Amino acid sequence: MPPPLQPIPGSYGWPVVGPLRDRLDYFWFQGPDEFFMKRMKKYQPTVFRTNIPPCFPFFDGVNPNVVAVLDCKAFAHMFDVEVADKKDILVGDFVPSAAFTGNVRTCAYLDTFEPNHAQVKRFAMDILKRSSKVWVSELLVSLDEMWSTVESNVSAKGSTNFLLPLQRCLFKFLTKSIVGADVSKSPDIAKSGPIILDAWLALQLLPTVSINVVQPLEEIFLHSFRYPSFLIRRGYNKLADFIGSKGTRKQTNLTRVHYGLTEEEVVHHLLFILGFNAFGGFSVFLPGLLGRLISDQTLQEQLRVEARKNGNVDLSFDSVKQMPLVQSFVYETLRFKPPVPTQFARARKDFRLSSYDASYDIKKGEVLCGYQPLVMRDPKVFDDPDSFKPDRFVGDKGAELLKYLYWSNGPQVGSTPNEMNKQCPGRDYVTLTASLIVAYLVRRYDSITGDGLTIRTVQKAMTK
Ligand code: HEM
Repeated sequence: MPPPLQPIPGSYGWPVVGPLRDRLDYFWFQGPDEFFMKRMKKYQPTVFRTNIPPCFPFFDGVNPNVVAVLDCKAFAHMFDVEVADKKDILVGDFVPSAAFTGNVRTCAYLDTFEPNHAQVKRFAMDILKRSSKVWVSELLVSLDEMWSTVESNVSAKGSTNFLLPLQRCLFKFLTKSIVGADVSKSPDIAKSGPIILDAWLALQLLPTVSINVVQPLEEIFLHSFRYPSFLIRRGYNKLADFIGSKGTRKQTNLTRVHYGLTEEEVVHHLLFILGFNAFGGFSVFLPGLLGRLISDQTLQEQLRVEARKNGNVDLSFDSVKQMPLVQSFVYETLRFKPPVPTQFARARKDFRLSSYDASYDIKKGEVLCGYQPLVMRDPKVFDDPDSFKPDRFVGDKGAELLKYLYWSNGPQVGSTPNEMNKQCPGRDYVTLTASLIVAYLVRRYDSITGDGLTIRTVQKAMTK
Protein backbone atom coordinates (compact mmCIF):
# COMPACT_ATOMS: atom_id res chain seq x y z
CA MET A 1 0.00 0.00 0.00
CA PRO A 2 1.64 3.34 -1.00
CA PRO A 3 1.65 5.98 1.74
CA PRO A 4 -1.24 8.50 1.64
CA LEU A 5 -1.13 11.34 -0.85
CA GLN A 6 -0.46 14.78 0.63
CA PRO A 7 0.11 18.25 -0.80
CA ILE A 8 3.80 19.25 -0.78
CA PRO A 9 4.34 21.56 2.23
CA GLY A 10 6.33 24.81 2.12
CA SER A 11 6.17 27.67 -0.33
CA TYR A 12 8.40 29.73 -2.60
CA GLY A 13 7.25 33.01 -1.03
CA TRP A 14 6.75 36.26 -2.90
CA PRO A 15 8.54 36.58 -6.24
CA VAL A 16 12.03 38.09 -5.82
CA VAL A 17 11.61 38.47 -2.02
CA GLY A 18 11.13 34.74 -1.27
CA PRO A 19 14.14 33.55 -3.30
CA LEU A 20 16.32 36.40 -1.99
CA ARG A 21 15.43 35.61 1.62
CA ASP A 22 16.19 31.95 1.06
CA ARG A 23 19.46 32.81 -0.64
CA LEU A 24 20.59 34.93 2.31
CA ASP A 25 19.61 32.16 4.74
CA TYR A 26 21.41 29.56 2.64
CA PHE A 27 24.69 31.42 2.32
CA TRP A 28 24.74 33.84 5.23
CA PHE A 29 22.35 33.56 8.18
CA GLN A 30 22.08 29.77 8.36
CA GLY A 31 24.40 27.91 5.98
CA PRO A 32 23.20 24.91 3.92
CA ASP A 33 22.95 22.36 6.81
CA GLU A 34 20.86 24.59 9.04
CA PHE A 35 18.89 25.89 6.04
CA PHE A 36 17.55 22.43 5.19
CA MET A 37 17.37 21.24 8.80
CA LYS A 38 15.25 24.19 9.99
CA ARG A 39 12.79 23.81 7.13
CA MET A 40 12.62 20.06 7.65
CA LYS A 41 11.73 20.59 11.32
CA LYS A 42 9.20 23.31 10.45
CA TYR A 43 7.34 21.27 7.82
CA GLN A 44 7.91 17.95 9.63
CA PRO A 45 8.26 15.75 6.53
CA THR A 46 11.45 15.40 4.57
CA VAL A 47 9.87 16.67 1.33
CA PHE A 48 8.97 20.37 0.96
CA ARG A 49 9.14 23.37 -1.35
CA THR A 50 11.90 25.94 -1.02
CA ASN A 51 14.23 28.11 -3.12
CA ILE A 52 17.86 27.41 -3.78
CA PRO A 53 20.46 29.97 -4.95
CA PRO A 54 21.64 31.43 -7.22
CA CYS A 55 18.90 33.96 -7.85
CA PHE A 56 18.21 37.69 -8.05
CA PRO A 57 19.58 40.13 -9.13
CA PHE A 58 21.74 38.97 -12.07
CA PHE A 59 20.61 35.43 -12.72
CA ASP A 60 17.76 36.11 -15.14
CA GLY A 61 16.12 32.96 -16.39
CA VAL A 62 17.39 30.82 -13.49
CA ASN A 63 14.42 29.38 -11.59
CA PRO A 64 15.31 28.93 -7.89
CA ASN A 65 12.11 26.95 -6.99
CA VAL A 66 12.81 23.35 -5.95
CA VAL A 67 11.19 20.46 -4.10
CA ALA A 68 13.70 19.36 -1.46
CA VAL A 69 13.97 15.58 -0.91
CA LEU A 70 15.78 14.72 2.32
CA ASP A 71 15.31 11.04 3.08
CA CYS A 72 16.76 7.93 1.40
CA LYS A 73 13.44 6.74 -0.03
CA ALA A 74 12.44 10.05 -1.62
CA PHE A 75 15.99 10.76 -2.84
CA ALA A 76 16.16 7.43 -4.72
CA HIS A 77 13.57 8.76 -7.24
CA MET A 78 16.39 10.84 -8.68
CA PHE A 79 18.08 7.63 -9.92
CA ASP A 80 15.00 6.63 -11.93
CA VAL A 81 15.73 7.83 -15.47
CA GLU A 82 12.07 7.37 -16.46
CA VAL A 83 11.13 10.34 -14.26
CA ALA A 84 14.44 12.15 -13.64
CA ASP A 85 15.59 14.38 -16.49
CA LYS A 86 19.24 15.35 -15.85
CA LYS A 87 19.72 17.71 -18.79
CA ASP A 88 21.72 20.80 -17.76
CA ILE A 89 20.88 20.39 -14.08
CA LEU A 90 24.18 19.34 -12.49
CA VAL A 91 24.22 22.29 -10.05
CA GLY A 92 20.54 23.24 -10.30
CA ASP A 93 18.74 25.35 -12.87
CA PHE A 94 21.87 27.51 -13.13
CA VAL A 95 24.26 26.28 -15.87
CA PRO A 96 27.82 27.63 -16.10
CA SER A 97 28.63 28.74 -19.65
CA ALA A 98 29.74 25.97 -22.03
CA ALA A 99 32.57 28.34 -22.98
CA PHE A 100 34.32 27.02 -19.82
CA THR A 101 34.63 23.69 -21.63
CA GLY A 102 35.46 24.78 -25.17
CA ASN A 103 31.74 25.06 -26.03
CA VAL A 104 31.35 21.32 -25.57
CA ARG A 105 28.51 20.02 -23.38
CA THR A 106 30.21 17.53 -21.10
CA CYS A 107 28.83 14.23 -19.78
CA ALA A 108 27.66 15.49 -16.40
CA TYR A 109 25.27 17.97 -18.11
CA LEU A 110 23.79 15.43 -20.56
CA ASP A 111 20.56 13.57 -19.90
CA THR A 112 20.29 9.83 -20.50
CA PHE A 113 17.65 10.51 -23.19
CA GLU A 114 20.12 12.61 -25.22
CA PRO A 115 21.86 10.30 -27.73
CA ASN A 116 25.35 11.64 -27.00
CA HIS A 117 25.12 10.81 -23.27
CA ALA A 118 25.62 7.11 -23.94
CA GLN A 119 28.46 7.93 -26.35
CA VAL A 120 30.36 10.18 -23.94
CA LYS A 121 29.65 8.03 -20.87
CA ARG A 122 31.03 4.98 -22.68
CA PHE A 123 34.06 7.06 -23.57
CA ALA A 124 34.55 8.04 -19.89
CA MET A 125 34.16 4.44 -18.72
CA ASP A 126 36.58 3.12 -21.35
CA ILE A 127 39.14 5.79 -20.51
CA LEU A 128 38.91 4.76 -16.87
CA LYS A 129 39.25 1.08 -17.78
CA ARG A 130 42.31 1.78 -19.90
CA SER A 131 43.81 3.94 -17.16
CA SER A 132 43.45 1.08 -14.68
CA LYS A 133 46.65 -0.49 -16.08
CA VAL A 134 48.77 2.26 -14.54
CA TRP A 135 46.38 3.81 -11.98
CA VAL A 136 47.81 2.19 -8.84
CA SER A 137 51.49 2.31 -9.87
CA GLU A 138 51.20 6.02 -10.79
CA LEU A 139 49.32 6.77 -7.58
CA LEU A 140 52.04 5.12 -5.49
CA VAL A 141 54.82 7.05 -7.24
CA SER A 142 52.98 10.34 -6.67
CA LEU A 143 52.22 9.47 -3.03
CA ASP A 144 55.92 8.78 -2.39
CA GLU A 145 56.77 12.22 -3.79
CA MET A 146 54.00 13.97 -1.88
CA TRP A 147 54.91 12.50 1.50
CA SER A 148 58.63 13.09 1.01
CA THR A 149 57.75 16.76 0.45
CA VAL A 150 55.53 16.79 3.54
CA GLU A 151 58.33 15.23 5.63
CA SER A 152 60.88 17.83 4.45
CA ASN A 153 58.41 20.65 5.15
CA VAL A 154 57.63 19.36 8.63
CA SER A 155 61.29 19.06 9.54
CA ALA A 156 62.07 22.51 8.08
CA LYS A 157 59.08 24.45 9.45
CA GLY A 158 57.73 22.37 12.34
CA SER A 159 54.35 21.86 10.64
CA THR A 160 52.93 22.04 7.14
CA ASN A 161 49.70 22.40 5.18
CA PHE A 162 49.22 19.32 2.99
CA LEU A 163 46.66 20.71 0.49
CA LEU A 164 49.05 21.90 -2.23
CA PRO A 165 51.27 18.76 -2.12
CA LEU A 166 48.07 16.67 -2.24
CA GLN A 167 46.72 18.55 -5.27
CA ARG A 168 50.07 18.24 -7.06
CA CYS A 169 50.10 14.51 -6.33
CA LEU A 170 46.52 14.15 -7.64
CA PHE A 171 47.20 16.20 -10.75
CA LYS A 172 50.30 14.22 -11.63
CA PHE A 173 48.86 10.74 -11.15
CA LEU A 174 45.47 11.52 -12.71
CA THR A 175 47.03 13.19 -15.76
CA LYS A 176 49.25 10.18 -16.34
CA SER A 177 46.47 7.65 -15.77
CA ILE A 178 43.54 9.35 -17.51
CA VAL A 179 45.25 11.32 -20.27
CA GLY A 180 48.48 9.36 -20.68
CA ALA A 181 50.63 12.52 -20.35
CA ASP A 182 53.60 12.81 -18.00
CA VAL A 183 53.70 16.20 -16.28
CA SER A 184 57.15 15.58 -14.79
CA LYS A 185 58.46 16.27 -18.32
CA SER A 186 56.64 19.64 -18.31
CA PRO A 187 57.54 21.31 -14.99
CA ASP A 188 55.54 24.43 -15.83
CA ILE A 189 52.33 22.39 -16.28
CA ALA A 190 53.11 20.34 -13.16
CA LYS A 191 53.32 23.56 -11.14
CA SER A 192 50.55 25.64 -12.70
CA GLY A 193 48.08 22.82 -13.60
CA PRO A 194 46.45 22.40 -10.16
CA ILE A 195 46.19 26.18 -9.69
CA ILE A 196 44.55 26.63 -13.10
CA LEU A 197 42.09 23.83 -12.35
CA ASP A 198 41.21 25.32 -8.94
CA ALA A 199 40.48 28.70 -10.54
CA TRP A 200 38.54 27.10 -13.42
CA LEU A 201 36.40 25.09 -10.98
CA ALA A 202 35.79 28.11 -8.75
CA LEU A 203 34.65 30.35 -11.60
CA GLN A 204 32.09 27.76 -12.72
CA LEU A 205 30.77 26.91 -9.27
CA LEU A 206 31.12 30.03 -7.11
CA PRO A 207 27.52 31.25 -7.53
CA THR A 208 26.34 27.98 -5.94
CA VAL A 209 28.77 27.44 -3.05
CA SER A 210 29.82 29.20 0.12
CA ILE A 211 33.52 29.74 0.77
CA ASN A 212 33.25 31.61 4.08
CA VAL A 213 34.42 35.03 2.94
CA VAL A 214 33.31 37.82 5.29
CA GLN A 215 29.67 38.77 4.72
CA PRO A 216 28.12 40.74 3.12
CA LEU A 217 31.15 40.80 0.78
CA GLU A 218 30.59 37.20 -0.26
CA GLU A 219 26.94 37.89 -1.13
CA ILE A 220 27.71 41.05 -3.05
CA PHE A 221 30.78 39.93 -4.95
CA LEU A 222 30.67 36.16 -5.16
CA HIS A 223 27.00 35.17 -5.33
CA SER A 224 25.40 37.93 -7.35
CA PHE A 225 26.52 37.26 -10.91
CA ARG A 226 28.00 34.67 -13.25
CA TYR A 227 31.70 34.71 -13.89
CA PRO A 228 32.76 35.02 -17.52
CA SER A 229 34.90 32.23 -18.94
CA PHE A 230 37.45 34.60 -20.49
CA LEU A 231 38.96 35.08 -17.00
CA ILE A 232 40.44 31.58 -17.22
CA ARG A 233 40.63 31.09 -20.99
CA ARG A 234 44.41 31.32 -21.23
CA GLY A 235 44.96 28.77 -18.47
CA TYR A 236 42.28 26.45 -19.85
CA ASN A 237 43.75 26.58 -23.35
CA LYS A 238 47.19 25.87 -21.93
CA LEU A 239 45.93 22.65 -20.35
CA ALA A 240 43.89 21.73 -23.43
CA ASP A 241 46.97 22.20 -25.64
CA PHE A 242 49.01 20.07 -23.26
CA ILE A 243 46.45 17.25 -23.40
CA GLY A 244 46.12 17.56 -27.19
CA SER A 245 49.86 17.42 -27.80
CA LYS A 246 51.16 15.21 -24.99
CA GLY A 247 48.17 12.91 -24.33
CA THR A 248 48.42 9.42 -25.74
CA ARG A 249 47.89 9.79 -29.48
CA LYS A 250 46.71 6.22 -29.93
CA GLN A 251 44.04 6.82 -27.35
CA THR A 252 42.75 9.90 -29.15
CA ASN A 253 42.51 8.13 -32.52
CA LEU A 254 40.80 5.09 -31.08
CA THR A 255 38.39 7.40 -29.39
CA ARG A 256 37.52 9.22 -32.57
CA VAL A 257 36.80 5.99 -34.41
CA HIS A 258 34.74 4.39 -31.66
CA TYR A 259 32.78 7.30 -30.27
CA GLY A 260 32.21 9.60 -33.23
CA LEU A 261 33.87 12.53 -31.42
CA THR A 262 36.18 15.01 -33.12
CA GLU A 263 39.74 15.24 -31.85
CA GLU A 264 38.94 18.64 -30.37
CA GLU A 265 35.87 17.34 -28.53
CA VAL A 266 37.95 14.48 -27.14
CA VAL A 267 40.37 16.96 -25.60
CA HIS A 268 37.58 18.95 -23.90
CA HIS A 269 35.88 15.80 -22.59
CA LEU A 270 39.20 14.49 -21.29
CA LEU A 271 39.96 17.78 -19.59
CA PHE A 272 36.54 17.80 -17.91
CA ILE A 273 36.90 14.20 -16.71
CA LEU A 274 40.42 14.91 -15.48
CA GLY A 275 39.88 18.39 -14.02
CA PHE A 276 36.25 18.55 -12.89
CA ASN A 277 35.21 14.97 -12.17
CA ALA A 278 38.43 13.39 -10.92
CA PHE A 279 40.71 16.21 -9.67
CA GLY A 280 37.74 18.27 -8.41
CA GLY A 281 36.06 15.30 -6.70
CA PHE A 282 39.19 14.03 -4.98
CA SER A 283 40.23 17.58 -3.98
CA VAL A 284 36.97 17.95 -2.07
CA PHE A 285 36.87 14.45 -0.60
CA LEU A 286 40.44 13.61 0.42
CA PRO A 287 41.26 16.60 2.67
CA GLY A 288 38.35 15.68 4.97
CA LEU A 289 39.34 12.01 4.98
CA LEU A 290 43.00 12.75 5.76
CA GLY A 291 42.08 15.46 8.28
CA ARG A 292 40.07 12.93 10.29
CA LEU A 293 42.80 10.30 10.03
CA ILE A 294 45.57 12.55 11.34
CA SER A 295 43.51 13.97 14.19
CA ASP A 296 42.22 10.66 15.63
CA GLN A 297 45.10 8.61 17.01
CA THR A 298 42.96 5.73 18.28
CA LEU A 299 41.31 5.22 14.90
CA GLN A 300 44.68 5.60 13.18
CA GLU A 301 46.14 2.81 15.30
CA GLN A 302 43.21 0.46 14.54
CA LEU A 303 43.63 1.11 10.82
CA ARG A 304 47.39 0.63 11.12
CA VAL A 305 47.01 -2.78 12.74
CA GLU A 306 44.64 -3.92 10.00
CA ALA A 307 46.62 -2.47 7.08
CA ARG A 308 49.87 -4.02 8.28
CA LYS A 309 48.34 -7.42 8.98
CA ASN A 310 46.12 -7.78 5.89
CA GLY A 311 46.75 -7.48 2.18
CA ASN A 312 49.92 -8.16 0.21
CA VAL A 313 53.27 -6.48 0.79
CA ASP A 314 52.66 -4.36 -2.31
CA LEU A 315 49.54 -2.27 -2.09
CA SER A 316 46.90 -2.78 -4.78
CA PHE A 317 43.12 -2.64 -5.10
CA ASP A 318 43.05 -6.36 -4.27
CA SER A 319 45.07 -5.70 -1.09
CA VAL A 320 42.72 -3.04 0.22
CA LYS A 321 39.72 -5.29 -0.45
CA GLN A 322 41.13 -7.38 2.42
CA MET A 323 40.94 -4.38 4.79
CA PRO A 324 37.30 -4.07 5.90
CA LEU A 325 37.89 -1.35 8.49
CA VAL A 326 39.92 0.80 6.08
CA GLN A 327 37.13 0.52 3.49
CA SER A 328 34.42 1.17 6.07
CA PHE A 329 36.25 4.30 7.27
CA VAL A 330 36.22 5.56 3.67
CA TYR A 331 32.50 4.77 3.26
CA GLU A 332 31.63 6.42 6.56
CA THR A 333 33.49 9.57 5.53
CA LEU A 334 31.49 9.61 2.27
CA ARG A 335 28.28 9.17 4.29
CA PHE A 336 29.12 11.77 6.90
CA LYS A 337 30.40 14.41 4.48
CA PRO A 338 29.34 13.62 0.91
CA PRO A 339 31.78 15.45 -1.43
CA VAL A 340 29.01 16.58 -3.80
CA PRO A 341 26.35 17.67 -1.33
CA THR A 342 23.48 18.59 -3.66
CA GLN A 343 21.99 16.63 -6.54
CA PHE A 344 19.25 17.84 -8.83
CA ALA A 345 16.80 16.38 -11.37
CA ARG A 346 13.92 17.84 -13.37
CA ALA A 347 10.65 15.84 -13.52
CA ARG A 348 10.41 14.37 -17.02
CA LYS A 349 6.66 13.86 -16.54
CA ASP A 350 4.04 14.06 -13.81
CA PHE A 351 4.75 11.33 -11.25
CA ARG A 352 4.07 10.31 -7.66
CA LEU A 353 7.03 10.56 -5.30
CA SER A 354 6.94 8.39 -2.17
CA SER A 355 8.55 9.14 1.12
CA TYR A 356 8.02 6.92 4.22
CA ASP A 357 4.76 8.34 5.51
CA ALA A 358 3.36 10.27 2.56
CA SER A 359 3.32 10.47 -1.25
CA TYR A 360 3.41 13.69 -3.26
CA ASP A 361 2.41 14.59 -6.80
CA ILE A 362 5.31 16.10 -8.72
CA LYS A 363 4.46 18.00 -11.90
CA LYS A 364 6.46 17.75 -15.12
CA GLY A 365 9.24 20.36 -15.10
CA GLU A 366 9.48 20.70 -11.30
CA VAL A 367 13.05 20.46 -9.97
CA LEU A 368 13.97 18.02 -7.20
CA CYS A 369 16.89 18.95 -4.96
CA GLY A 370 18.48 16.27 -2.80
CA TYR A 371 20.76 17.47 -0.03
CA GLN A 372 22.99 14.48 0.66
CA PRO A 373 24.41 15.48 4.08
CA LEU A 374 20.87 15.16 5.53
CA VAL A 375 19.75 12.25 3.34
CA MET A 376 22.78 10.32 4.59
CA ARG A 377 21.59 10.88 8.16
CA ASP A 378 18.20 9.31 7.55
CA PRO A 379 17.42 7.75 10.97
CA LYS A 380 15.22 5.12 9.32
CA VAL A 381 18.32 3.71 7.62
CA PHE A 382 21.37 4.63 9.73
CA ASP A 383 21.51 3.98 13.50
CA ASP A 384 22.75 6.93 15.52
CA PRO A 385 23.16 8.85 12.22
CA ASP A 386 24.85 11.95 13.67
CA SER A 387 27.78 9.94 15.05
CA PHE A 388 30.83 9.16 12.93
CA LYS A 389 31.31 5.39 13.26
CA PRO A 390 34.34 4.19 11.28
CA ASP A 391 33.24 0.54 11.46
CA ARG A 392 29.61 1.19 10.45
CA PHE A 393 30.02 -0.61 7.10
CA VAL A 394 31.91 -3.67 8.40
CA GLY A 395 30.27 -7.12 8.28
CA ASP A 396 26.96 -8.31 6.82
CA LYS A 397 24.92 -5.53 8.39
CA GLY A 398 27.38 -2.96 7.07
CA ALA A 399 27.30 -4.47 3.58
CA GLU A 400 23.50 -4.11 3.60
CA LEU A 401 23.86 -0.38 4.38
CA LEU A 402 25.97 0.15 1.23
CA LYS A 403 22.68 0.03 -0.71
CA TYR A 404 21.93 3.41 0.86
CA LEU A 405 25.30 5.09 0.39
CA TYR A 406 24.45 7.54 -2.39
CA TRP A 407 27.48 9.85 -2.79
CA SER A 408 28.01 8.75 -6.45
CA ASN A 409 24.44 9.65 -7.46
CA GLY A 410 23.46 6.03 -7.02
CA PRO A 411 23.92 3.29 -4.44
CA GLN A 412 27.37 1.90 -3.61
CA VAL A 413 26.12 -1.66 -4.35
CA GLY A 414 23.11 -3.02 -6.22
CA SER A 415 23.48 -0.93 -9.37
CA THR A 416 26.31 -0.43 -11.85
CA PRO A 417 27.28 2.89 -13.38
CA ASN A 418 26.48 2.55 -17.09
CA GLU A 419 25.45 4.57 -20.13
CA MET A 420 21.75 4.16 -19.29
CA ASN A 421 22.06 5.88 -15.89
CA LYS A 422 23.71 8.96 -14.35
CA GLN A 423 25.82 7.26 -11.72
CA CYS A 424 29.46 8.31 -11.40
CA PRO A 425 31.60 5.88 -13.41
CA GLY A 426 34.44 6.52 -10.95
CA ARG A 427 32.43 5.06 -8.04
CA ASP A 428 34.62 2.05 -7.27
CA TYR A 429 37.87 3.76 -8.28
CA VAL A 430 37.15 6.50 -5.77
CA THR A 431 36.51 4.23 -2.80
CA LEU A 432 39.40 1.87 -3.62
CA THR A 433 41.81 4.74 -4.30
CA ALA A 434 40.90 6.44 -1.03
CA SER A 435 41.26 3.14 0.84
CA LEU A 436 44.67 2.63 -0.75
CA ILE A 437 45.80 6.10 0.32
CA VAL A 438 44.72 5.41 3.91
CA ALA A 439 46.50 2.03 3.92
CA TYR A 440 49.62 3.59 2.39
CA LEU A 441 49.77 6.23 5.12
CA VAL A 442 49.30 3.97 8.09
CA ARG A 443 51.84 1.53 6.68
CA ARG A 444 54.37 4.30 5.98
CA TYR A 445 54.09 6.01 9.38
CA ASP A 446 54.03 4.72 12.96
CA SER A 447 52.32 7.98 13.79
CA ILE A 448 51.06 11.12 12.05
CA THR A 449 49.58 13.98 14.03
CA GLY A 450 47.83 17.16 13.03
CA ASP A 451 44.36 18.53 12.40
CA GLY A 452 42.42 19.97 9.50
CA LEU A 453 44.90 20.52 6.69
CA THR A 454 47.94 20.78 8.98
CA ILE A 455 50.44 17.99 9.60
CA ARG A 456 52.47 18.52 12.79
CA THR A 457 54.54 15.38 13.23
CA VAL A 458 55.31 12.28 11.22
CA GLN A 459 57.13 9.26 12.53
CA LYS A 460 58.23 6.87 9.83
CA ALA A 461 57.78 3.14 10.27
CA MET A 462 60.94 1.15 10.80
CA THR A 463 59.74 -1.51 8.40
CA LYS A 464 57.31 -0.65 5.63
C1 HEM B 1 36.05 11.75 -5.18
C2 HEM B 1 35.91 11.76 -6.49
C3 HEM B 1 34.58 11.85 -7.21
C4 HEM B 1 33.38 12.30 -6.74
C5 HEM B 1 33.04 12.84 -5.37
C6 HEM B 1 32.43 12.17 -7.84
C7 HEM B 1 31.08 12.46 -7.74
C8 HEM B 1 30.19 12.37 -8.80
C9 HEM B 1 28.78 12.65 -8.71
C10 HEM B 1 28.03 13.02 -7.46
C11 HEM B 1 28.27 12.51 -9.95
C12 HEM B 1 26.81 12.71 -10.36
C13 HEM B 1 26.50 14.16 -10.57
C14 HEM B 1 25.02 14.38 -10.86
O1 HEM B 1 24.55 13.95 -11.93
O2 HEM B 1 24.35 14.98 -10.04
C15 HEM B 1 29.36 12.16 -10.83
C16 HEM B 1 29.24 11.99 -12.18
C17 HEM B 1 30.29 11.69 -13.00
N1 HEM B 1 31.56 11.38 -12.63
FE1 HEM B 1 32.27 11.32 -10.76
N2 HEM B 1 33.09 11.66 -8.91
C18 HEM B 1 34.40 11.44 -8.57
C19 HEM B 1 35.39 10.89 -9.36
C20 HEM B 1 35.25 10.62 -10.69
C21 HEM B 1 36.29 10.04 -11.51
C22 HEM B 1 37.67 9.56 -11.02
C23 HEM B 1 35.80 10.01 -12.77
C24 HEM B 1 36.57 9.49 -13.95
C25 HEM B 1 36.08 8.90 -14.97
C26 HEM B 1 34.44 10.53 -12.73
C27 HEM B 1 33.62 10.71 -13.83
C28 HEM B 1 32.30 11.12 -13.76
C29 HEM B 1 31.45 11.29 -14.93
C30 HEM B 1 31.87 11.13 -16.39
C31 HEM B 1 30.19 11.63 -14.45
C32 HEM B 1 28.92 11.91 -15.28
C33 HEM B 1 28.11 10.61 -15.33
C34 HEM B 1 26.92 10.71 -16.24
O3 HEM B 1 26.60 11.79 -16.73
O4 HEM B 1 26.28 9.68 -16.49
N3 HEM B 1 34.14 10.88 -11.45
N4 HEM B 1 30.51 12.06 -10.10
